[in-house]
Parts: sequence; structure tokens; C-alpha cells
Amino acid sequence: MKMKKVFLILTFALGIIVFYFSPAYSAAINKTGMSLFVSEGCITCHRINGIGGTAGPNLSNIGSKRSFTWIKEQISHPSRHFMLGTGFTQNNKTYVVMMPSFQPIPPSKINALAEYLESLKGATKQQKLTGKQLFISEHCIACHTINGAGGTAGPNLSNIGSKKSLAWIKEQIMYPAGHYISHHKVKISGKIYYVIMPAHPRMSPLKVNKIASYLKSLK
Ligand code: HEC
Ligand code: HEC
Repeated sequence: MKMKKVFLILTFALGIIVFYFSPAYSAAINKTGMSLFVSEGCITCHRINGIGGTAGPNLSNIGSKRSFTWIKEQISHPSRHFMLGTGFTQNNKTYVVMMPSFQPIPPSKINALAEYLESLKGATKQQKLTGKQLFISEHCIACHTINGAGGTAGPNLSNIGSKKSLAWIKEQIMYPAGHYISHHKVKISGKIYYVIMPAHPRMSPLKVNKIASYLKSLK
């Protein structure tokens, strides 16, 4: 191969690599519905999970109310659904109908926005579970007994709330290695245990909070 050709190929490859790590590329892949909701200004009038304006209705669980097609239509032609200047009532609050049409934005973006909004269904079943229920569904009960029910590979937690703080319990759920040395033996309330509790670093903060608060209440 001629040097010039090799050089051209290398330059081309380098160009791809540079683009791959460039802000332009990450901007392209990050333009999901969620970021469009911010960049297109929807967030100035609409609130999702506590963030955003209040001139328009809250969209935190719009997906359980409206279809993908309906949402797309609302973004491009809101006047087909609601008449300007009339009232729109949601949860006992009335809004003045004034949403502008976003028809000039490309269909691909409208699709991404509608896909995102359609996915918002409010609290899921998992999120509605109480700490007591999560203690079972997250398998803590396989190793721990509370009030007579559960396994014995780990200590009885029936009165853990009078022994440890909320913060300590949260830490134990996420990173037990911060408290006990993995695979060693430990004596807790007069009994020897092997330190085998699994870490849960990716458990959602909501779940960790619920389970820890439940355990903290056991005294
Ligand atoms: C200037 C304020 C404003 C902006 C900006 C705005 N909206 Fe709205 N939106 C409203 C209002 C007010 C309503 C109530 C009906 C109407 O005005 O058409 C509404 C209604 C909606 C609904 C239907 C809600 C329901 O419960 O049925 C959806 C979905 C929606 N907007 C999505 C969006 C999206 C996506 C964007 C951004 C592309 C956006 N809106 C931008 C004010 C706004
Ligand atoms: C495979 C068995 C096992 C599972 C599953 C398990 N644990 Fe543990 N747990 C242990 C063991 C063994 C210990 C003793 C120290 C250690 O291993 O870190 C312990 C310690 C604890 C302690 C501290 C007890 C004390 O008195 O110091 C708490 C609190 C706790 N676990 C809560 C939980 C919660 C909440 C879950 C579910 C998210 C869970 N555990 C899942 C085995 C387990």
C-alpha cells in the first residue's frame, strides 16, 4: 500500500474515533425524550416528578391516561384536542388552554418526546410496596428472622431499631463491607455469623429508605 493511502485511511479512522468521543456525538445520543422535554421548553409549563412549571398540567403519570398517538397529536396540534382560551381541569385544578403547537420540530423529536411521556405511569407496583413487603420481595427474609418468621444465616432483626441508627442500616443494606469484613466470622448478640450479606449498591434510594425505615421502627 502506498504511504498516502495508509495516511488517508488512518486519518479517516482517527476522525471516527475523535467524533465518537466528541461532545457532538454524545449530544446526538443523549437527545432522548427526557432531554428534549427540557431543551424544547416543555418543562417551563409542565411538571414531572416534582420538577418543572405549573402553567400546564402535571405530566408525572400522563402515560397511564393518554396513548402514544394522542400525545404526539397534542405536541403537534394541541388545538385538535382543546380550544384555546377555554379551561382544562386536572385534579381539581383548572388551566387556561394555551399550549403552543410544536409542529415545526422534526417528527423524530416529537416521537422521542411522546415515547418518553407515554412511559410515565406514575408510581409502579414496585414503588408502591412498603418496607415490610420489600423485606420479603428483596429476599432479606431468606437470611433474617423478624418476629418469628425468616431465615437464620443472618442475625435476628426483630429489635434492630433500638440498636442501630437509620443511616447505619441504610449503609448495611448498600455496602455491608463498610461494617463487617467479608467472609470473616462476626459475633452479633452472642451468636457467630459468617459475613456473607450481599451488597445492594444499585438498589434504588427509595427502596433502601423504605426498608431501612421499616427496620428502624422495630424496637
Ligand atoms: C406555555 C405553556 C406550555 C408549554 C411550553 C407546553 N405546554 Fe403542554 N400543555 C399546556 C397547557 C396549558 C395544557 C392544557 C391543554 C392545552 O393548553 O392544550 C397542556 C397540555 C399538555 C398535554 C396533555 C395533558 C393531559 O393531562 O391530557 C401534554 C401531553 C402536553 N401538554 C405535553 C407538552 C409537551 C411535550 C411540550 C413540549 C414540547 C409542552 N406540552 C409544552 C401548556 C404548555
Ligand atoms: C445471604 C444472607 C443475607 C441476605 C440475603 C441479607 N442479609 Fe443482612 N445480614 C446477613 C449476615 C450474615 C449479616 C451479618 C453481617 C454481614 O454479613 O454483613 C447480616 C447483617 C445485617 C444487618 C445488621 C444486623 C446487626 O445486628 O448488626 C442488617 C440491618 C441487615 N443484615 C439487613 C438486611 C436487609 C435489609 C437485607 C435485604 C435487602 C439483607 N440484610 C439481606 C445475611 C444476609
